[in-house]
Amino acid sequence: DKGDFEHFMLKEIHEQPELIRSLTQFYFHGEGLESLKKAGSFKPSKFHMTACGTAYYAGLLIRDFLETYNKIPCAPELASEFRYRNPLLIEGESGLFISQSGETADTLAAQELCTESKLKTLSIVNVDGSTLFRNCDNNLLIRAGIEIGVASTKAFTQQVLTGRLLSLALSDELSEESKRVKLTSKFSLLAEKIDHLISRSKEIKDIAESVYNHKGFFYTGRGIYYPVALEGALKLKEIAYVHAEGYAAGELKHGPIAMIDEDMVNVALVGPELFEKTVSNIQEIKARKGVILTIGPKDHEELEELSDYYFGIDFDGLEELSPIYINIVNQLLAYYIAKYKGTDIDKPRNLAKSVTVE
Ligand code: M6R
Repeated sequence: DKGDFEHFMLKEIHEQPELIRSLTQFYFHGEGLESLKKAGSFKPSKFHMTACGTAYYAGLLIRDFLETYNKIPCAPELASEFRYRNPLLIEGESGLFISQSGETADTLAAQELCTESKLKTLSIVNVDGSTLFRNCDNNLLIRAGIEIGVASTKAFTQQVLTGRLLSLALSDELSEESKRVKLTSKFSLLAEKIDHLISRSKEIKDIAESVYNHKGFFYTGRGIYYPVALEGALKLKEIAYVHAEGYAAGELKHGPIAMIDEDMVNVALVGPELFEKTVSNIQEIKARKGVILTIGPKDHEELEELSDYYFGIDFDGLEELSPIYINIVNQLLAYYIAKYKGTDIDKPRNLAKSVTVE
């Protein structure tokens, strides 16, 4: 049931704050705590993270958490590549699989390959009892509820957060109640800010109205904003049928900058990390007459002046979770662009909700 919403995708975007709150409650103060501690008690020498599509981009952020906070090497790879590549898998390492459905054929094959090589396998998955859930040694449920929109939205957010919880568990940060209480308020702040952000949807809709007819979109970001650039471009492609690419901001000058002209939009994702470097990339695009749509820190005059369109966000207290915040703006941007284009948002052409064949 879509309730008052025109599309399931929009409804699912709106569900995110509440889902964040209940995920935190479940893992910090409810029945989930033991399973999270169990997942954190096995410290592999390396993670092989495989997934497809949106789940893979969530996995790229999880890779950053595991390497930054746990110092455990994590090799991310698309499941469809991993399964046919003869990857080097050594006992003591672990396979980590991210999936909404738990039924994606390539991800299941990657899991089987890890099991055959005697690796322990762990999933971050939405569907309880799915094939992936049954085949893995251990699972962390993302508790996103049923996701109906073909374009994955809330599952991404819950996957990234569950990955962050895993990294907290691996560094034994969940043993004390007082620490868990502190973390709960950090996650509630995120939920609260997302509520506020969603209430500003009209601003995003207006930006969409101004840009939806442009011929192409480059989403750019650095560091933890790079996976979000990839995910933002995927969302736009799949529901609006507009050509979009996600690019590491520093890579543009190695080729694609040749495509920039006044009909190309650069969706520049600028968070607190690597700020100056990203700004200089925007200047390069501006010099080639590209249209700049920046999603960046609020009240930043210099950046606002440089941009044709600006959506400012208050990132205080949320540094490592700031990609989630930017991603929700991207979800709404793709949604409204698709609406202006008049596409079938919940069931985009040529796509199925779960890809159960190769
Ligand atoms: O069910 P899964 O998370 O394993 O699905 C993976 C991809 O097929 C999925 O994320 C796909 O890319 C979405 N349509 C993206 O919105």
